[in-house]
Amino acid sequence: MGMHIHLILMNHITSCTPITNKDTSGNLEIYVLFGFSVNARSYRIPRYDENDGCARIHNEYISKNTTFFTYTDVRDCYMNFPFDKEIASQTIQTLDALFHGFYPFLYKAKEPPQREFHFKPIDLLVQLNRLQKRRYDTLFQFMDGVRKLIFELRDAHTSFITNCFSSFVFYTNLTLYSIVTDDGVQKIKVFNDTIDPTNINCEVTHIDGRRAIQVITEFPNYISKDLGVRFNVALDVNYPGITFFTRVDLPETPSITYTLNCDNHPKLVKRNWSVIGIQTILNNFNNSKTYFSNICKNSTNDYYQQLIAKLLEIKEAHKNVRELKSNEHVITIIYEIVDFISFFKEQDFGIVKIKTEDVHLNNTLAVEIITGFQALANTGVKKVVLDLSDNLGGFVLISNFINLLLFPDANTFYNMDIRVTKQFKLVLQGLVNLNEIVSSTNLTKFQYVEDLIGNNFYTRGGVTERYSNRFLISNPYEYKDLISRHLIAPLPWKSDDLIILTNSLCGSSCALIAEGAAEVNNVTTVAVGGFVNSPLSYSSCQGGVVIDSTLIFNIISKLNLQNNTLMPKPFILGGKLTIPSSEFYSIKNSDKILEFLYRPADFRLFYDDKNFRDRSILWSQAAAFIGRKPKIYS
Ligand SMILES: *[C@@H]1O[C@H](CO)[C@@H](O)[C@H](O)[C@H]1NC(C)=O
Ligand SMILES: *[C@@H]1O[C@H](CO)[C@@H](O)[C@H](O)[C@H]1NC(C)=O
Ligand SMILES: *[C@@H]1O[C@H](CO)[C@@H](O)[C@H](O)[C@H]1NC(C)=O
Ligand SMILES: *[C@@H]1O[C@H](CO)[C@@H](O)[C@H](O)[C@H]1NC(C)=O
Ligand SMILES: *[C@@H]1O[C@H](CO)[C@@H](O)[C@H](O)[C@H]1NC(C)=O
Ligand SMILES: *[C@@H]1O[C@H](CO)[C@@H](O)[C@H](O)[C@H]1NC(C)=O
Ligand SMILES: *[C@@H]1O[C@H](CO)[C@@H](O)[C@H](O)[C@H]1NC(C)=O
Ligand SMILES: *[C@@H]1O[C@H](CO)[C@@H](O)[C@H](O)[C@H]1NC(C)=O
Ligand SMILES: *[C@@H]1O[C@H](CO)[C@@H](O)[C@H](O)[C@H]1NC(C)=O
Ligand SMILES: *[C@@H]1O[C@H](CO)[C@@H](O)[C@H](O)[C@H]1NC(C)=O
Repeated sequence: MGMHIHLILMNHITSCTPITNKDTSGNLEIYVLFGFSVNARSYRIPRYDENDGCARIHNEYISKNTTFFTYTDVRDCYMNFPFDKEIASQTIQTLDALFHGFYPFLYKAKEPPQREFHFKPIDLLVQLNRLQKRRYDTLFQFMDGVRKLIFELRDAHTSFITNCFSSFVFYTNLTLYSIVTDDGVQKIKVFNDTIDPTNINCEVTHIDGRRAIQVITEFPNYISKDLGVRFNVALDVNYPGITFFTRVDLPETPSITYTLNCDNHPKLVKRNWSVIGIQTILNNFNNSKTYFSNICKNSTNDYYQQLIAKLLEIKEAHKNVRELKSNEHVITIIYEIVDFISFFKEQDFGIVKIKTEDVHLNNTLAVEIITGFQALANTGVKKVVLDLSDNLGGFVLISNFINLLLFPDANTFYNMDIRVTKQFKLVLQGLVNLNEIVSSTNLTKFQYVEDLIGNNFYTRGGVTERYSNRFLISNPYEYKDLISRHLIAPLPWKSDDLIILTNSLCGSSCALIAEGAAEVNNVTTVAVGGFVNSPLSYSSCQGGVVIDSTLIFNIISKLNLQNNTLMPKPFILGGKLTIPSSEFYSIKNSDKILEFLYRPADFRLFYDDKNFRDRSILWSQAAAFIGRKPKIYS
């Protein structure tokens, strides 16, 4: 059984976006950047080819000691590499083998979506193959086509990035938000503008000459199958990933022109993209030739994480005043586990704000969580808002623990399974640790891999395939004793005393908390944002446990399967495909996959000038829905 293999933990749903890994982000240095410091030393600067964008970037970096560049330099650098048939065909072959062997939704994605979703059914393998047959001038065009095709899945756990064409971060210095006026009109407004703060709160009527709402609606992101969620995320200043104003992919134009309406005065505002590089990349090339050999071909792939960290740093610097700051209501902090859960009291209700599930559960932490809930119960609040906004997930163990704490008598533990392909079977022993999962039918460990594989066949998108027996990440009742030892009495709140509040971005493991409350325990939900005339999901990207191509290649090589023709060959250019390795099922409808299940919130809230900047108002608006009977959507 190849016991020398380092077993990979399966219990991590990485969040539904590539957020930074806490363990590494601490190592990232933060550079104070100066615009320029032209002094002496110029004799050292080598001549460079001014037509080569990569060389210009290097020259700026060295001569001005800056990590800020122009859009044109980066575009010209990216466009330097002509299309190469061999690279294209090998890239497609690798992707084809990865999707074929490991993507659980490969055929599910061919089925027409539920009416309320917005995505096209897609036969991925056919489409990938087609991409290869088109004509391209540059390698960039080809890779960008691949990236966009994979985006079309609208699966937040699935994305493809190349080192070559995602090595800079783009920022516009002007952030937006969307409000709905008292008479029901939806508008886009300026949230912050560091270049001209007098623009703050002006309405944005048009972007590059087109209706602002339309432009934001069409902004391509893959965070959800629900267009309203995508709209929210495109404008989400708290989202640690790609939004309309923070990008890692090359924007189409060097600047964006906004038509503002400030107190009935129209105004045109043009914003160039600020382009920011990171030293690990900048130190490794001096022209397009070395860019290609050292960056594009480099199989190192922590660049992206570092870029996302840079992007976060920028967002932090343009601090959104969306934290706890209230002019309207008094908020008392009852208990706090920093960067994870906070417990508040406002007026006569409580708030539990869960920011993430990306923390390791152990007994110490479990007791802390219990202490927080107990402290909130001790205040005597009869109603509680569970605020799960901007929560991108983390570990399933955290969701299961919180569900057990809130609903000790219900089964809120979401089953998953694996699409058992020939390829998956060959690496199963490297990917799944049988000690970390239990059968969801009897909560005991699978003794043999064959027990996990089982004998279940489902037809999806017209293709019948084998799926594993269903399983859970460890026995969710493991913490039951600990909870009863540390809670004075069961928590006093029943389903009717709770409400789930999200901005629809409650993804992955977070979604399992929201679903456990809503679908199993009938807790009402309220979602904020989205489009004024359509319902909005209260959670998103339920996908499954995430893996990536690097992990798969490592296992393939550890198992000496490199020469097996079924197996994908490593990418010819440095890149990474991230996919879920498993899928979650609804508890109420056990044949339905959560990722493909439309779940609108019972109630809606919209932002206005005040509640967008003051969360206490939003909490109070959400609390007002507690105990009210929702109107049924479908
Ligand atoms: C370049 O900038 C960095 C960060 O501001 C600074 O620490 C370093 O001393 C500068 N180097 C030179 C040669 O000016
Ligand atoms: C624009 O944003 C960048 C990135 O945070 C910042 O460094 C720069 O100073 C901003 N520009 C202006 C003019 O505020
Ligand atoms: C915007 O970019 C253009 C073209 O690179 C440049 O001429 C212009 O000065 C930039 N504007 C600002 C405000 O930086
Ligand atoms: C660019 O870097 C390469 C090594 O990566 C080096 O051999 C070459 O001399 C450098 N060229 C210039 C112009 O600095
Ligand atoms: C690949 O990138 C790593 C990390 O930035 C760097 O240390 C290494 O030198 C690069 N490899 C090549 C061949 O340039
Ligand atoms: C806008 O961003 C700046 C930092 O870049 C910050 O100091 C300021 O408070 C922000 N303004 C608002 C209204 O959020
Ligand atoms: C338990 O987890 C917390 C937070 O994840 C961590 O800080 C602590 O060191 C862990 N304690 C033990 C005993 O492992
Ligand atoms: C538990 O269920 C699995 C199927 O999910 C089965 O293979 C296994 O034999 C069962 N174990 C026990 C102890 O019943
Ligand atoms: C939730 O509602 C359904 C019917 O709407 C009911 O059958 C079920 O018992 C309720 N569950 C709980 C935990 O209240
Ligand atoms: C794979 O094939 C190559 C070339 O035929 C051979 O050198 C290598 O030993 C093979 N590797 C394994 C693990 O079989």
